[in-house]
Amino acid sequence: MSARLLDGKLISEQVLEETRRGVAEFTAKHGFAPGLAFVRVGEDPASVVYVGAKAKMCERLGIQGQTYVLPASAVEAQVLDLVASLNAQPRVHGILVQSPMPAGIREDVVFEAILPGKDVDGFHPLNLGKLAVGDPTAFVACTPAGVHQILLRGGIPLAGRRVVILGRSRIVGKPLALLLSGKGKGADATVTLAHSRTQDLPSVTREAEILIAAMGKNRFVTADMVREGAVVVDVGITRVPDPAKKSGARIEGDVDFIPVSQKASWITPVPGGVGPMTIAMLMANTLKAAKLQTA
Ligand code: GUN
Repeated sequence: MSARLLDGKLISEQVLEETRRGVAEFTAKHGFAPGLAFVRVGEDPASVVYVGAKAKMCERLGIQGQTYVLPASAVEAQVLDLVASLNAQPRVHGILVQSPMPAGIREDVVFEAILPGKDVDGFHPLNLGKLAVGDPTAFVACTPAGVHQILLRGGIPLAGRRVVILGRSRIVGKPLALLLSGKGKGADATVTLAHSRTQDLPSVTREAEILIAAMGKNRFVTADMVREGAVVVDVGITRVPDPAKKSGARIEGDVDFIPVSQKASWITPVPGGVGPMTIAMLMANTLKAAKLQTA
């Protein structure tokens, strides 16, 4: 079999267009736009690029994006003070504190200081708990939410099907397992959450009708680990030095793409798969936050 591509770029454009329309309606109704505050601490080069891209997307969609930059020398209390002030601002509906933060700042403490209703990253434990109990006001972290949308909008049936997720991280694997195993439309899957301590991993992954690789090890999933006709979603993004590239590096996923695509029925590419979905889901979460706070 030769797999067809699940095009994350195309699907992200659908989500962005729907969000843009929702933002315009919100703004017309309330007389102000949904607001998203970004906090960056220090000058980590990747974070400068990521926050810049997210702020630009806000502009494109009509979301009021504001970026706050603290020096790399900032201490945790300064970050917490800024978060507290943003929590108190009614026109700030979403808050994103970019990770990684400088050493000495406890990221969990910072994320838990964000009001759960403004936690558009979905990192707060209350939001993970709400997801676990099926509360529709939960904010779901952008990467798992993006994987879910790729499957839904890609027309991949989930109900009753066997899903194997590789990687149990708090940001991707765990929330994704909760999303896909939940009750109702677009869920109802039978989910196995496999990880570094799973025994005989290939025999587990070969059971998967839908295999989601999110362990952050480039080219880890080889063709022998994949069932014929499986749907394969690759969440990995590892930078690999590559002198042939202008940037000096290329991005590889967790899946050994070429051989696996000979066996799969559908597969997400890297780049152009899950990656573009995350920023789209951040924008969608911001609109959701603004609506919930003004309802
Ligand atoms: N750093 C890299 N990706 C993310 C993200 O989605 N949210 C935050 N807060 N930091 C990040």
